[in-house]
Amino acid sequence: MSLPNPIPSKRIAVLISGFGSNLQALIDACNHCYINAEIVLVVSNKARVKGLTRAAEAGIDTAVIRAQEYPERIDYDRALADLLADYSVDLVVLAGFMRILSTDFVNTYHGRMLNIHPSLLPKYPGLNTHQRALDNGDKESGCSIHFVTDELDGGPIILQAKVPIFADDDAERIAQRVNSQELTSYPLVVKWFCENRLIMRDKKAWLDNHPLGPNGYAAE
Ligand code: GRF
Repeated sequence: MSLPNPIPSKRIAVLISGFGSNLQALIDACNHCYINAEIVLVVSNKARVKGLTRAAEAGIDTAVIRAQEYPERIDYDRALADLLADYSVDLVVLAGFMRILSTDFVNTYHGRMLNIHPSLLPKYPGLNTHQRALDNGDKESGCSIHFVTDELDGGPIILQAKVPIFADDDAERIAQRVNSQELTSYPLVVKWFCENRLIMRDKKAWLDNHPLGPNGYAAE
């Protein structure tokens, strides 16, 4: 009896702009074989950020593509796409990458690009999510992991993790609480993708051949 073919390890590029705590969680998850993948490249739009140091320390190739070098978004995204093509990337993981990507780029990685956003989407796309939740008197916040489509922070949601907001909270404390959820949630979703369990089809996220609801996976 022959064993089924193992799924080939995927090649991941992670795009960052800063601290890289989510990147670190993904590096650790790959190194511990929790995720069947190799992070082959980390790209930042900012030089000298902690995330680049984390990548270099893990022996991962890094690149900085600055906006100043490519004032037109389309040129920036073409340079980025060319670089990712050189690395034969299967999956693009946005982990705090603070740039909007053009339609062409998004289409190139249709169904192969993930983002993590620090709010319970569809609430609060864009910036300052925690302050906006506080200002609205919300009792909970969280993070959302979704496929990337043309709509800013609007692609099909795969997984959300919730945290409480307490009466004496400020945005920084909520951010820390949400971030601790991000560090386990993102590796789980990337793991699903790398096991070929997670796809995007008909504008929905599907896990194990089941369409996920508007709030993504619910572990009930
Ligand atoms: C995270 O909060 C993520 O949700 C948002 O940007 C932040 C990145 O943090 N998109 P880090 O650079 O991974 O520490």
